[in-house]
Amino acid sequence: MTDGINSRIVIVKILKKIKESRINIDQCFEKELKKINLSIKDKKYIYNVVITTIKNINSIDQILKNFTKSVNKKDVSYFFIISAISQIFILNQKEYAVINSTCEAYKRLNKKKLNFINGLLRNITRNKSSINIDKLNKSLHPIWFKNILKELPTSKRKVIYKSITKRPLINLVFKNNKKLNIVKQKFLETSKNSLALSEFIDLKKISGYNEGLWWVQDFASTIPVKLIPNLKNQNILDMCAAPGGKTFQLLNSGARVTSCDISIDRVKLLKENARRLQYNLNIINMDALKILENKFFDTVLIDAPCSSIGTIRKNPEILYRNSGPNFEFYLDLQYKLLEKAKKLLKINGTLIFAVCSFNKKEGVKQIEKFLLKNKNFQINPIIKSESKGFKKLVTKEGFFQSYPDDLIEIGGIDGFFIARLIKKNDNAL
Ligand SMILES: C[S@@+](CC[C@H](N)C(=O)[O-])C[C@H]1O[C@@H](n2cnc3c(N)ncnc32)[C@H](O)[C@@H]1O
Repeated sequence: MTDGINSRIVIVKILKKIKESRINIDQCFEKELKKINLSIKDKKYIYNVVITTIKNINSIDQILKNFTKSVNKKDVSYFFIISAISQIFILNQKEYAVINSTCEAYKRLNKKKLNFINGLLRNITRNKSSINIDKLNKSLHPIWFKNILKELPTSKRKVIYKSITKRPLINLVFKNNKKLNIVKQKFLETSKNSLALSEFIDLKKISGYNEGLWWVQDFASTIPVKLIPNLKNQNILDMCAAPGGKTFQLLNSGARVTSCDISIDRVKLLKENARRLQYNLNIINMDALKILENKFFDTVLIDAPCSSIGTIRKNPEILYRNSGPNFEFYLDLQYKLLEKAKKLLKINGTLIFAVCSFNKKEGVKQIEKFLLKNKNFQINPIIKSESKGFKKLVTKEGFFQSYPDDLIEIGGIDGFFIARLIKKNDNAL
């Protein structure tokens, strides 16, 4: 490691920024790590400490609370303290080395609370044997999150709490089965064209990366496209397409796809991904709510912007941030996207609505409201024969609903809701 002190300062900056903004971990890393020249080893170390601290913030805050009531969570000292606790208690690093370099790093920014940090960390460390991290309360999460979980059975809640501190496997989707066989023997097979692997592997080193034989996509996120019947040559609108997982599945199955996304940065990423995968895109970078209603599609796919709470295993910052997701904004936008999609769909066309969330308001409730107002739409229920590998996640109404770490037999998947609707002719009613 070139400079442990510099790395610690970067860790603190990232932890503070994520806590106080809406930026996600990956974006924050990209921005912060660009500013400073660090080795791959340093970068991995920084990532490991940040992600471990965020995933275990619940336990870390409880430890801290037992030793002091006078920590200001807005002050930079808080972030030095929580990252040190994370290294000592969860990553099992040498206590005195962690304390010394934490104090050294703090000194470079500030000196005011040096004695406090030093004394507090030494006191906590002296009492380490009396703290059993596994016995700490795992349910001390923000109220908004608890309210969503309240609707679930206790057993489900426990799995979700546990899933937050785990590292999820990464799912790779292959263009076809033959391509998958190149690397198959090393990883867990999640479907006939996807594999799960540990995230510690450098993805660029996996066979087929440069040739564009596969892309990263959670298993649950692959299901919406699997529910579209007869994909070949269909005209499909992917309304919220970036970074592209579903567009690539569609193109891979021979559909004619129009991909839309409002975000300039995410469209850039979509284009980069498509270049590596050697797909030609038909892309519109605009607000899907403003698409002209002069062309009608066989299928419209809404992979809607949402709270993303189904992805808490990968995005634990959702629970770590000062403020929770802006539910009002998402609920409004999701419903507007549904209302727009209906106008862009042919009669007998398929409307797929998906969110990576297990919040009923973002899923089933949106569809109930839409069906109530749009009598010419019906549920086209998911049936057993098309739900191989995920039958148990199909609800009695024929929707798909998963929760974080469902299908643990394939390494666990994200929480996701999917509805498939069909548009009937108004006159036929
Ligand atoms: C869940 S992500 C889509 C993931 C993508 N379908 C995939 O499989 O890779 C939601 C996307 O919706 C986009 N979005 C948000 N509001 C939008 C709008 N009004 N019109 C079009 N896209 C929008 C966001 O930029 C984001 O890329």
